Amino acid sequence: MKGVPFLDLEAQHHPVKDEIKEALGRVVDSGCYVLGPEVAAFEEQFAAFVGTQHAVCVNSGTSAIHLALLAAGVCEGDEVIVPAMTFIATAMAVTYIGAKPVCVDVDRFCTMNPEAVEDAITPKTKAIMPVHLYGQPADVDAITNVAEKYGIAVIEDAAQAHGAVYKGRRCGSMGKAAAWSFYPGKNLGALGEGGAVTTNDPDIAEKCVTLRDWGQGAKGWHVVKGFNYRMDAFQGAALGVKLRHLDEWTEQRISAARMYRDKLSGVPGIELPASREGSRSVWHIFAVMVENRDTVATMMREQNIGVSIHYPNAVHLHPCYRDLGYNAGDFPNAENIANNEISLPMFPGITGEQIEKVVNAVVETVSRLHGNDRSTAR
Ligand SMILES: Cc1ncc(COP(=O)(O)O)c(C=O)c1O
Repeated sequence: MKGVPFLDLEAQHHPVKDEIKEALGRVVDSGCYVLGPEVAAFEEQFAAFVGTQHAVCVNSGTSAIHLALLAAGVCEGDEVIVPAMTFIATAMAVTYIGAKPVCVDVDRFCTMNPEAVEDAITPKTKAIMPVHLYGQPADVDAITNVAEKYGIAVIEDAAQAHGAVYKGRRCGSMGKAAAWSFYPGKNLGALGEGGAVTTNDPDIAEKCVTLRDWGQGAKGWHVVKGFNYRMDAFQGAALGVKLRHLDEWTEQRISAARMYRDKLSGVPGIELPASREGSRSVWHIFAVMVENRDTVATMMREQNIGVSIHYPNAVHLHPCYRDLGYNAGDFPNAENIANNEISLPMFPGITGEQIEKVVNAVVETVSRLHGNDRSTAR
């Protein structure tokens, strides 16, 4: 049987291939391969898309988090509150600074539980970093209320949330700054590594511009110790093309998610993702919970269905963070996701027929393992 890939970038790029090649050709001809006009043009377009005054492009999402935190004043010895369920980069960028990631549990929407945040605040807390995980907006208002009470910055990790909306505002426009990833598989992906910081604060933007370029204030004049985090021009050019198609791709993801939901609702043994009222998820990941997840994943793959797991370990239980002193059981919701989550194929252009195949395979697999009545799938 012809399977269904987890992600099909080739299919997504096919209709825009000529536009992308034309943009890349422009870069080849320009002789300007790092930053330059293509990146500057994309920064302007992306800031307008997010609804912020500034966008500063860098070479990855991890670099974007690093710079956003530094620009917001996070220093060695400070603490940054992060969700216990996220991609590890959220915490690692905190560690780059010599600051300490302080984990809190997630809520039933798989994003930072605002009720857990206040208890995690100490005199050392400098920032709170909610993650719009899977493309679903975190409860930013509730988190901001706590942050404002203590005068702490909110920095959004928007790496998975291009175009997501929370109470009428775009993710990435609500905190002091936000970090984005343009890793190829992201909803807005480059043809290599890429990232950006968005902000309404000119001081943060200026600091990021300086820090991404070895701390250069003026040519040959290094005012702070910085990094080589510059975006290459090919990525800026490709992203400029792809941004023009992002709304259409997001609609395709939303309609795929709706199809999954319609066909899988009520199936015993499959827990569908909860959607936060008043917000728009952009379905970077369609995450469902199942028992015996690893066996389900193996059986799905045997049927040529490309599934993935986001993420198989919670932040606090990685060996590299043993020094934080957490234990299994500390963040039960995050650990539940780590143990039970499986990501179904989701990409712009996924067809109804492909979704049907995935649904049949997951229902069949779960029912074989748990003895369900298969007729419950629609
Ligand atoms: C939530 C989250 N934060 C940060 C990152 C890091 O981005 P990058 O891979 O571009 O460094 C990613 C993606 O990989 C992510 O999913």
